[in-house]
Amino acid sequence: MTSSNKETRATIVAVGPGDNGFLTLKGKQAIEDADLVAGFETVLNVIRPFVKGAELCSMAYRNQEEVLDYAVDKVINEGKSLVVCAWGDLNVSAKELLDRVRKRVDHVELVPGISSVQIAMSRTGISLEHTVFVTLHVRAGTENALDELIHYLKDGRRNIILLPRPYDLMPAGIATGILSKGVSADRQMTVFQRLTYNDEQSWSGTIKECSEITTEFSDLSLMVFHQPDTN
Ligand SMILES: C[S@@+](CC[C@H](N)C(=O)[O-])C[C@H]1O[C@@H](n2cnc3c(N)ncnc32)[C@H](O)[C@@H]1O
Repeated sequence: MTSSNKETRATIVAVGPGDNGFLTLKGKQAIEDADLVAGFETVLNVIRPFVKGAELCSMAYRNQEEVLDYAVDKVINEGKSLVVCAWGDLNVSAKELLDRVRKRVDHVELVPGISSVQIAMSRTGISLEHTVFVTLHVRAGTENALDELIHYLKDGRRNIILLPRPYDLMPAGIATGILSKGVSADRQMTVFQRLTYNDEQSWSGTIKECSEITTEFSDLSLMVFHQPDTN
């Protein structure tokens, strides 16, 4: 598929949290129709079975700018169609990738997907309207997010879903840090690892018990702090 339109376009497809059964039909169609499909290798692994002849542009953190430049150059100079794949949903802790694509092309179409956050909510039976979401999965500046986390933990009115940051801000360290700020040690929490994969795991206990865990957590880990009154 090629485009004669002079304005540059790309589609960002959110591929879901790991099991490709969570890729939407819209996302699958966009991948099937694309000339180029770019994404981190782990993300491409999810959608590989649906690629029909597209050139795969695998990115790593260190070369993502160069890979996107390469792909967008083909859009501009050869009229190719480009899909960039994002993990989970593209409106959940994926802004850096969206901004990288947006600064390179005129029009970005977004195809949303299923987030790891939605899977965690369905596993625990909690609703978005009773939940606050905080991410530490940013390159810098986690101080505000940690302050908000402590604020909402002390406030006690909501479940809190937290994305840790591999590998320096992980569940046991976060639990230790928030205890030192006076958060209740008895608050119940769950850590999910590798949601939707065959080796998915979950651990539940108190914040104090989490702080004592010495085994390593997967980079695909997500924390749920349960609302005190209802859990
Ligand atoms: C950069 S964020 C992107 C989140 C993604 N956009 C989403 O909607 O799930 C990556 C983080 O999401 C969480 N995550 C993503 N997939 C997961 C999974 N299958 N199981 C547990 N946590 C997951 C982990 O905290 C991981 O470090």
